[in-house]
Amino acid sequence: MNYQAAADYIREKIQGDFDTCVVLGSGYGKLIDKLPQKVTISYSEIPFFPVSTVPGHKGEMVFASFQGKNVVFLSGRFHFYEGYSLQEVTCYVRVLKLLGVKNLILTNATGSINPNFKAGDLVVISDHIKLGLQSPLFGPNDETFGPRFHDMSCAYSKDLREKAKQAFERVGIPYQTGVYAMMGGPQFETPAEIRALGILGADMVGMSTVPEVIVANHTGMKVLGISLISNLAAGISKAPLSHEEVMEEGRRATEKFWGVLCELIQLL
Ligand code: HPA
Repeated sequence: MNYQAAADYIREKIQGDFDTCVVLGSGYGKLIDKLPQKVTISYSEIPFFPVSTVPGHKGEMVFASFQGKNVVFLSGRFHFYEGYSLQEVTCYVRVLKLLGVKNLILTNATGSINPNFKAGDLVVISDHIKLGLQSPLFGPNDETFGPRFHDMSCAYSKDLREKAKQAFERVGIPYQTGVYAMMGGPQFETPAEIRALGILGADMVGMSTVPEVIVANHTGMKVLGISLISNLAAGISKAPLSHEEVMEEGRRATEKFWGVLCELIQLL
């Protein structure tokens, strides 16, 4: 992947510094329609960039002025289950780094394992569990981005988590805190897998985010993760799971999330 060529292409189209990126997960794509003064770049025009193939993931980078700050929004991300390598899944993180982004805010939809969570809840991710999948940093290390062995003991920035909690409190929206477990998908989990994840300490489960968090930490970016509980995980819910349900809950949570994001960006 030629990260520099992708960054150079984007840099020619934008003006100013963009410190913060918000990645919009499943169902949140519509939020970018609300942004004023934006430059939109489709993934398909960026050299070496993959395109997202999942419904609800538009495949655009939007550079906008938001709450008086320059913020880049990604509508659509890449997933391992689409057949991309973990290097492709995470390539955008390194491109953002080259563009000068310092804060990466990742959103996603998840199934809840913790019995205290319910559909529609927003959760500040405190930590994660990666099972089975290789690391996106497998292979020769590119020292220009970070060291061979990097620390993950505070992968989700304490400072950003505190600011997120403040933002929730200011807008009067309740939030949860929890540990995110990544499964490869695309199939949803079995009830036995969900029971196992619960025993391991996971509060919720999803199919994204963790590879990006690893690469962002490697480059020294600060990361914040916010999950939307779109469904109760398999076995906790008695009903079969579906992507439509995930998307629908995302659409319903959009306004709530938007309010929190407006506050949060002001606090950065
Ligand atoms: N499992 C895995 N990924 C998900 C789920 C789930 O239940 N809901 C939304 N993304």
